[in-house]
Amino acid sequence: MKFVTLVLLAIIISLFSLNNAETLEGRIYDKNDRIEHQLKTINESNNEFINGTFDYYVCGENSKAPYCECQENGQLKCDAPVVKNSDYENLLINVYFDGPYFTNANIKIMNESFIPKTATFNSNQIKKLEKDKILPGNEATVETLEINSNGIEEIENGAFNNFSSLKSLDLSKNSLSNISARVLTKEIGSSLKKLDLSHNPFTSTDSFDFTNLEKLEELILDGIHIYLSNNYEKTDFIFPKSLSNLKKLSMRDCGIISFNDKIFDNLINLETLDLYGNYFSSVPESINQLTNLQSLNLGHSFILNLNETSFKNNQKLSEFSMVASALRNIDNCTFCKKPNLKKVMLYQNRHLSYIHENAFGNVDSEILHSLETFSVESCNLSIIPEKLLNWNSLTEFGIGKNPFICNCSMAWLINDLLSPTHSVPFLFRHMKQRRSFSYNEDKTILEDFDFETNVYKV
Ligand SMILES: *[C@@H]1O[C@H](CO)[C@@H](O)[C@H](O)[C@H]1NC(C)=O
Ligand SMILES: *[C@@H]1O[C@H](CO)[C@@H](O)[C@H](O)[C@H]1NC(C)=O
Ligand SMILES: *[C@@H]1O[C@H](CO)[C@@H](O)[C@H](O)[C@H]1NC(C)=O
Ligand SMILES: *[C@@H]1O[C@H](CO)[C@@H](O)[C@H](O)[C@H]1NC(C)=O
Ligand SMILES: *[C@@H]1O[C@H](CO)[C@@H](O)[C@H](O)[C@H]1NC(C)=O
Ligand SMILES: *[C@@H]1O[C@H](CO)[C@@H](O)[C@H](O)[C@H]1NC(C)=O
Ligand SMILES: *[C@@H]1O[C@H](CO)[C@@H](O)[C@H](O)[C@H]1NC(C)=O
Ligand SMILES: *[C@@H]1O[C@H](CO)[C@@H](O)[C@H](O)[C@H]1NC(C)=O
Ligand SMILES: *[C@@H]1O[C@H](CO)[C@@H](O)[C@H](O)[C@H]1NC(C)=O
Repeated sequence: MKFVTLVLLAIIISLFSLNNAETLEGRIYDKNDRIEHQLKTINESNNEFINGTFDYYVCGENSKAPYCECQENGQLKCDAPVVKNSDYENLLINVYFDGPYFTNANIKIMNESFIPKTATFNSNQIKKLEKDKILPGNEATVETLEINSNGIEEIENGAFNNFSSLKSLDLSKNSLSNISARVLTKEIGSSLKKLDLSHNPFTSTDSFDFTNLEKLEELILDGIHIYLSNNYEKTDFIFPKSLSNLKKLSMRDCGIISFNDKIFDNLINLETLDLYGNYFSSVPESINQLTNLQSLNLGHSFILNLNETSFKNNQKLSEFSMVASALRNIDNCTFCKKPNLKKVMLYQNRHLSYIHENAFGNVDSEILHSLETFSVESCNLSIIPEKLLNWNSLTEFGIGKNPFICNCSMAWLINDLLSPTHSVPFLFRHMKQRRSFSYNEDKTILEDFDFETNVYKV
């Protein structure tokens, strides 16, 4: 039934090009040939502005350009209208767009009073970025520039130099094999705070040069397979001193097996590290050097054990996530002396069968952890030690889908479920929120979950 509806609602984008080139219109049609959305009218016969300086004229009466809009708050949106097939909720499927696309960003904004602050050219067909041909004349005000999913192969040296206010640059999902300090220059380094270079075919750590990016706070390098091409060996690469202001680093799905111990030594202010989807078999020692680390993700790794030494120096840790990994044991004091720890996500660790009752240091210590969110759903735990956590502090808790044993070790939990007046202060029935944390491909799906039936099933 749903499928029938899906097919019926399948929307086709058609583009009509009349012979005399008077009009070229991009429209999205629905099943009944009603125009769902008119993209932009392009009127070539009436375009007095073309005189060779610019390739596209946007935001004017008779703009000659692919789909592009000057929106509120200085947002220039020139993204190709990609409609994702995953948009099931709106029952939009099989939608495609067949152009026209931007092949460069050499545009003229016809509305003189429009001051671009954010400019996006995502999902177009820009292969090369040339100096003085990215929003020429408007560079100085642009704070965010996104040109992702274009297949950019080449960037001319100094191409971003006139972007004197640029804070965020997104060049992800392109075809860059390298990006040097002649592109990531001192000029751009004096303002840039966020850089996204994910999913580009860089081949080694020599492919990029961040030495000028002294203001950078966030660097995203997901899906870059720099280590695989090095025959799985450690490299000597160390993030440069210039990145001492970096707060967030993401290297998800990079195929990394191991790091050298000093790789993060210069990242003295790093707070968030996301290494989801790599091939580590033990916690890299280099992580331990990050004394300001607050959030760590080691999900989908081959790490088998966590112990007292794993995060010894990460005393500011407040969020830890390691889901869907090969984890088996969490030993004594793994999370001891982490007073800020609020959230620990360990769901979908199918082999996790042992958590030491003092893993959080709650057995010896007088000061109990005030953890707020904890999930060990869909693991292989037969008991949850009563002393593991300060159950009073939790607001979100997931323990379903474990092969729990109904013996005295679990009596505290079972009794508490049966009789909400039990002396154990943690009352499931009165929890503010009960959520189920489960893992599905790359997504965390949070859904309402009937806690009790899962426990009684044992
Ligand atoms: C295109 O320009 C011509 C000449 O000015 C005009 O007659 C026509 O209405 C325009 N078409 C559109 C769709 O604006
Ligand atoms: C087109 O060229 C003329 C002079 O040749 C110039 O005055 C005008 O500003 C140019 N238009 C644009 C949009 O660059
Ligand atoms: C030109 O841009 C300004 C500032 O964004 C906006 O207020 C105005 O409505 C725009 N004019 C036209 C004709 O679109
Ligand atoms: C960029 O700046 C240089 C000088 O720093 C200038 O010569 C050039 O014309 C500028 N480019 C544009 C498009 O404004
Ligand atoms: C960097 O990429 C450009 C563009 O693809 C290429 O021409 C150049 O040879 C590359 N340089 C290095 C050092 O790989
Ligand atoms: C913790 O685990 C690491 C790696 O598995 C090991 O080298 C280390 O000796 C262990 N430390 C303790 C205290 O067990
Ligand atoms: C757990 O580790 C702490 C700190 O190293 C130690 O004092 C305690 O004796 C250990 N407990 C057990 C049961 O090994
Ligand atoms: C779960 O733990 C039991 C022992 O408690 C073990 O026999 C079994 O192999 C484990 N399952 C997995 C998937 O690791
Ligand atoms: C309950 O079962 C677990 C797992 O088999 C075992 O480790 C524990 O000692 C048992 N507790 C009691 C009180 O028998």
